[in-house]
Amino acid sequence: MKSRPEMLALNKKIKVGRNDPCPCGSGLKYKKCCLGKTDVPNIDIKSLYKEKHKIRLKEASDVKGIRKAGQLVLDSLDMVEKKIRPGRLTDEINTLVHEFTVKNGAKSAPLNYRGFPKSVCVSVNEVICHGIPGKRVLKEGDIVNVDVTPILNGYYADASKTFFVGEPGPEAQKIVRVARESLKRGMHSVTPGNTIGDIGWAIQQYAEGQGCSVVREFVGHGIGFEFHEAPQIPHFGHKGEGIILVPGMVFTIEPMINLGERHLKILADNWTAVTRDGSLSAQFEQTVLVTPDGFESLTPYQL
Ligand code: MF3
Ligand code: CO
Ligand code: CO
Repeated sequence: MKSRPEMLALNKKIKVGRNDPCPCGSGLKYKKCCLGKTDVPNIDIKSLYKEKHKIRLKEASDVKGIRKAGQLVLDSLDMVEKKIRPGRLTDEINTLVHEFTVKNGAKSAPLNYRGFPKSVCVSVNEVICHGIPGKRVLKEGDIVNVDVTPILNGYYADASKTFFVGEPGPEAQKIVRVARESLKRGMHSVTPGNTIGDIGWAIQQYAEGQGCSVVREFVGHGIGFEFHEAPQIPHFGHKGEGIILVPGMVFTIEPMINLGERHLKILADNWTAVTRDGSLSAQFEQTVLVTPDGFESLTPYQL
């Protein structure tokens, strides 16, 4: 348990606004609750977030481990990028990632995760996410998302990029540009005192403003000790809504953006999510740490 003065220090650090939900978890506005009170119980943010939100805040040593797993994700994506060309089977990408992961002393988190049969998700064109590598052949003008999640020394990191296969047409260029910028805007709204809703709002506002749509059925997620931890991070929503971001939170932001309407269907394999209207869908994902003065990507690549 933290003493009251430490709690105040934490409150200061997380810049809680008067009208924000009180970090003590009461559900009241901060101004109607702990602000200015002298008789509130001692609260430690780490226990509070665990008990109230099931969120496991990360220590410096955890962050180090996740960052290392994150570097392996980046190296995997760089390795794959060099091999992407027309004629490649998506299954070849699976083999490349699987072998690279094992060679680096890690395991592929997707393999056998809830019955997923492969080591990486490979999602082409109208496939929104969770594409199962197989006999599909990449062709000139396709877009392909590769989503990599290793477990290294017990720590998970998760990131993806959408690549062009050969020369992209105008639609491919547009959806990839909007998806990339959506992730960038989501990440830049991460700072202590902001809420999970601020992230989704930033993404939705931008992507819909570009005439695209945001997938609702799949969301970002806490990560680090497990593949999918609390909280969920929707890529749509309202400013100021939801849990207040505090330092030590680690989660993914991974907007799936469609060129057409947002609706999806799941194929008979029970995994592959495709756009209902057959339009292109693109996605970028990074694993993000909330720091005392903003955020740090633990899978950093240029957006
Ligand atoms: N990597 C995906 C994500 O970003 C999850 C894939 S689940 C799997 O959360 F089973 F398909 F691998
Ligand atoms: Co993810
Ligand atoms: Co992922």
